[in-house]
Amino acid sequence: MGGRPELRVAMQTIRSLPELAEWSRSLHREGVTIGLVPTMGALHAGHRSLIRAARLCCDAVVVSVFVNPKQFGRGEDLARYPRRFRADAALCRREGVDVLFAPRQDAMYPDGFRTRVSVEGLTARWEGEFRPTHFEGVSTIVTKLISLSRSDCAFFGQKDFQQALVVKQLVADLNLGTRIVVCPTVREQDGFAVSSRNEYLSPRQRRVAPILYAALQAGRKAIQKGIRAGSPISRAMVKVIRSEPLAEVDYVAVCDPNTLQPLRRLRGQTLLLGAIRIGSVRLIDNLLVNLPRRNQRAR
Ligand code: PAF
Repeated sequence: MGGRPELRVAMQTIRSLPELAEWSRSLHREGVTIGLVPTMGALHAGHRSLIRAARLCCDAVVVSVFVNPKQFGRGEDLARYPRRFRADAALCRREGVDVLFAPRQDAMYPDGFRTRVSVEGLTARWEGEFRPTHFEGVSTIVTKLISLSRSDCAFFGQKDFQQALVVKQLVADLNLGTRIVVCPTVREQDGFAVSSRNEYLSPRQRRVAPILYAALQAGRKAIQKGIRAGSPISRAMVKVIRSEPLAEVDYVAVCDPNTLQPLRRLRGQTLLLGAIRIGSVRLIDNLLVNLPRRNQRAR
């Protein structure tokens, strides 16, 4: 896979679903591999890293920009979600994207649309608990995007760890035949994970936002010190977040990275998850921690 520079022509913007389906069908007939980067726009350094990964892995890259109403709950930020198509298109062009797919809402969900894709189990906890309809919306749109683009690979950021796991599950269950590639979280210099929603933060809120990453690091440090019980690690993370008066904890978790079940005792790789609110802005982040090989004295 990868590296067919002769294919690179000016980026095409496609708004129609049949046109995207035809584009991908014709590329597949020629044996060209397709990488999909699904986004809701307001592209940033995190998306850029996904596009770059897609370009390395696949011959052609399609970026979708679609603010998916089905994944926003009541009272969430659908109306104010940042939309800046021209800047997104310019970034995609600079990054050598082949197709920018930007469908209209009524093309994606025409009158009479009745299907929902729902993944059980993995969606019950954490984000699923705080945003009960979110993953159904994500799963439905991602299924549509993968089938329209016939992508060989689709690229997701680790920041939305639970989302990536849910997508892997649906791709396996529905035999979509796409490889899901999860790319590392891109962080600002102070460790704060980049996200389209970060721009909602006031300068003061932005200054305290890295507290979530600091909490995850405190969790990692506890593991590195030899603590192997889940509760004291969670408590260490909560303590850090509570040290910041502007931050409210939604949840922190010490869990199994494959099932997202909370761990009472750590074994193997461990996922530290956290979600906080600063004012009305909700932030999520996570860290994967490998237990040190030579186990220190476990507590
Ligand atoms: O992560 C996102 O931006 C969205 O959830 C996604 C995967 C593009 C689906 O709308």
